[in-house]
This record gives sequence, structure tokens and C-alpha cells, in this order.
Amino acid sequence: MDNKRFYIETYGCQMNFADTEVVNSILMDNGMDPVQSAEEADIIFVNTCSIRENAETRVWNRLKEFRSLKKEKGELTVGVMGCMAERIKEQIIEQEQLVDIVVGPDAYRDIPNLLKEVHDGRKAVNVLLSLEETYADITPVRTSGNGVTAFVSIMRGCDNMCAFCVVPFTRGRERSRPMSSILREVEQLREQGYKEVTLLGQNVNSYNYEGIDFTRLMDEASRANPEIRFRFSSPHPKDFPEPLLHLIAERPNLCNYIHIPAQAGSDTMLERMRRPYTREQYLKLIDRMREIIPGVSLSTDIIAGFCDETEEEHQATMSLMKIVEYDLAYMFAYSERERTLAHRKYEDNVPEEVKKRRLSEIIKQQMNIQQKSNEAEAGRRHLVLVEGESKRSDQQLSGRTDTNKMVVFDRLDFGKGDYVEVEITGSTSATLFAKPVRKSSIAEFHAGQAVPA
Ligand code: SAH
Ligand code: SF4
Ligand code: F3S
Repeated sequence: MDNKRFYIETYGCQMNFADTEVVNSILMDNGMDPVQSAEEADIIFVNTCSIRENAETRVWNRLKEFRSLKKEKGELTVGVMGCMAERIKEQIIEQEQLVDIVVGPDAYRDIPNLLKEVHDGRKAVNVLLSLEETYADITPVRTSGNGVTAFVSIMRGCDNMCAFCVVPFTRGRERSRPMSSILREVEQLREQGYKEVTLLGQNVNSYNYEGIDFTRLMDEASRANPEIRFRFSSPHPKDFPEPLLHLIAERPNLCNYIHIPAQAGSDTMLERMRRPYTREQYLKLIDRMREIIPGVSLSTDIIAGFCDETEEEHQATMSLMKIVEYDLAYMFAYSERERTLAHRKYEDNVPEEVKKRRLSEIIKQQMNIQQKSNEAEAGRRHLVLVEGESKRSDQQLSGRTDTNKMVVFDRLDFGKGDYVEVEITGSTSATLFAKPVRKSSIAEFHAGQAVPA
């Protein structure tokens, strides 16, 4: 193949970023070299997301830019991978000369063949979804990122069919990756100096590989790597395993942070969304989390303006968020997606301005909550894993607490990958400021915390 240099631009969730690392590995095994910008590349892949309209719009615009680049350069191969593959297949190949390759999330092993087809002058498409593919034997190659925190995908697809969500259609049926291959990847990351691993799946609670469940996986992974911090995303409120809460509470390297998407705060809305839990059950789960893991930090996903949403239902979402006081929330205006239950059965009937107004009320309240919760951090000690220099100054470092809050402090003689004990001195709604106390480790910090003052 003459096309040697490749560049992958990634949109969407952490799982897409993890997939990009799998594709890096596949391309590099085929003799190609990663480059850091589209301009230097012979082959550009866009790893796409379909979750909301604006995610897709961004990709379409980018593809048009690449078309211009192609005209300038004369020769350039452009591929689309990820969650838009299925849709792009129909729209693009015939209509516009935007894309040469379309490859869906389960077909990445086929990319070398697809590149050959393009080389021979054909358009190449493979969007087949699989019941088994987990890329278990492929060691992802991390070409970007900070060298300290990594994502490891433990399962693929989703069987939940939430009424608003396109993921089950773009990524297919749920399947779990063998535990041994997950543990091997974590071990390799540790050997490369990584200090934090986030285990990824669309619903990690339903991880099951030959009878091994998610709690067991977390147990094994955290026991084998005591100086690696573990996080996970996302669990589903409908079947969150309580034994996992106890494990998080007793294991120092399982972070005291849980992302637990609520989506909405009323039973009627949850029912319409096909989220099989009630407000009361959700709040009870939150109580259990806080009882079992004192100081646990919580985040969530919320959708404003889903079909038929009444003002009362909106207020119920607001009040749920006020009761829980999340440390972080990802908040979205509903965006209708083809093929979903909502698209087939409901009407996207909340006017755009109403969606926007409700979303901004939700965001405003959340910012106030975060501001207060961050103010309450003043004077507390945290163990921060340094991820790199702060955005503002190379004299400052930034990293996150066990509870997933971003902290900025003076560099002194600390560096990337260090665990540093800090004392919080100030905050905004998004960032904590601190003074560093000493270099530490998970074991040391935890031992210090266990000693009564
Ligand atoms: N599997 C994860 C969510 C993945 S998508 C989970 O269930 O936790 C991330 C978030 O995007 C969802 O939690 C939801 O809040 C939001 N989302 C999904 N579909 C959406 C849509 N059609 N419009 C707006 N937001 C959506
Ligand atoms: Fe989408 Fe629901 Fe699956 Fe999450 S659990 S990916 S929101 S269908
Ligand atoms: Fe987007 Fe696909 Fe992730 S639709 S959010 S990239 S699973």
C-alpha cells in the first residue's frame, strides 16, 4: 500500500476513543504510521457519533473540510468509522464524493481489506454488526492522551433500548470481553506507567463473561493493581449491584465516584423513556451509595424536553437534581434519532425554545449546586493524580481527586503521574485550587486517613 500515514479524528463517548486505539493498532500492524494532524495524513478516518443531531452535524462539516483538503492534495483517502457508519453508507456513497470508506464499529478488523479496495478504485463499505466481536486479542495503541489515565473497554453494544437512544442500533447487541484479556491490558498499562484506568461499557452492571460479573471483575482488577486507580462508566440504575458498593468502600484504589445516569426525575417520564426504575428506587439507590461509601461523589446524565414532557415533569427533574446534589452532570436537550422507539411511537413535540429554557434552568441550578459543593471542599485533604500541566500555566499542575474533581496547584518538584496529597484552598464551579502537601501513594494516603486525628 502506498498510503502510509494515517490520522484518526474522534468524536463521541469514551468508547469511541477506546475504539480509535484499537484501530491504531490494526493500522500500525499493517505498516502504517500515525500522524498528529489531518494535513500530514494520506488517510484520514473520522470516528463518528450519532447520539444527538449536533454531534452528526459537526462530523458532516468536518467531512466537507476534508473534501477540500482532498482537492488541494490530489490524493487523500477519507474514511468514516463509528456510530454514523450505517447512516453514512446510504447518504454518502451515492450522493457526494465525501468518503471512500465506511466502516462500522464491529468491522474494524476489515479495514486493511477495505483500504485495498479503495486502492483498486472502489468505494469500500462494511457496516456489519457482530454478536461476538470484542477485539479482545487486539492491544490498543494510545497515540494521544496523557500517558497517565487510560480507558479500557470491557463490553460492546447495548440491549437496553431506552426510548430516546440510538446506541443499540449503531453498536448492536451487548457482549462482554473475556476477563483475562481485560486484566492483561490493565497489566500492560501498568507496565507502561499508567496510573488510572476507567473500565467502559454502555451498561457495565450487565458485564458477564462466563459467569464472571462486574463486581468480580472490579475485585480482581483492583486487587492485582493496588497503585492503579479504577473508575467505571456507566452503570444503569435499574440493576446496580450492592456488593460493588461495599467493594468500593473497602478497596482504596476503587475511586469514590459513581456516574449514575438518571435521565429524568418523574415516574411518568422514566416510564416513557423506558428506563425501568422509579424516582423512589433511584433515590433509594443514591441513599445506599452514600451510606455505604461516605463522601462518595456522584454524577449523572439528564435529558431535557423529551417527548410530551410537561412543566411538572420538568420540575420533577429539577427537584431530583436538587435532592441528590450531584457533583457533576451532563445535561442535554432531547434530540430525536431515527429508528428509536421515540421516533417510531412518540412525537418530538416540546418546542425548541421550551427545551432550551428547561435545559438552561437545569444547568443553572446545577452550576449553583456544584459551586456550593466545591466551596465546602476548602480545607479538605485529597490525593490527586497529576495528569499534566494546567491549561493556564506551565508552573501549575492539574489532576483529579479520587472523587473526580479537577484540582490545580503549584508545580514545585512534582510531575505527571505522581500521586500528590493536597489541601484545598479555593474553587470555582468546575475546578478546585490547592496547595500541595507531599508526594504520596494510594497505600500511604489511605493509611494516613485511617489513623484517627
Ligand atoms: N449507556 C450510557 C449512556 C450513553 S449516551 C448510559 O446509559 O448511561 C450518553 C447520554 O446521552 C445518555 O445518558 C443520555 O443522557 C444522552 N442521550 C442519549 N440519547 C439522547 C438523545 N436522543 N437526545 C439527547 N440526549 C441523549
Ligand atoms: Fe442508550 Fe440506554 Fe443503552 Fe445507555 S443504556 S446506551 S442510554 S440504550
Ligand atoms: Fe456516540 Fe456511539 Fe458513543 S452514538 S455516544 S459514539 S456509542
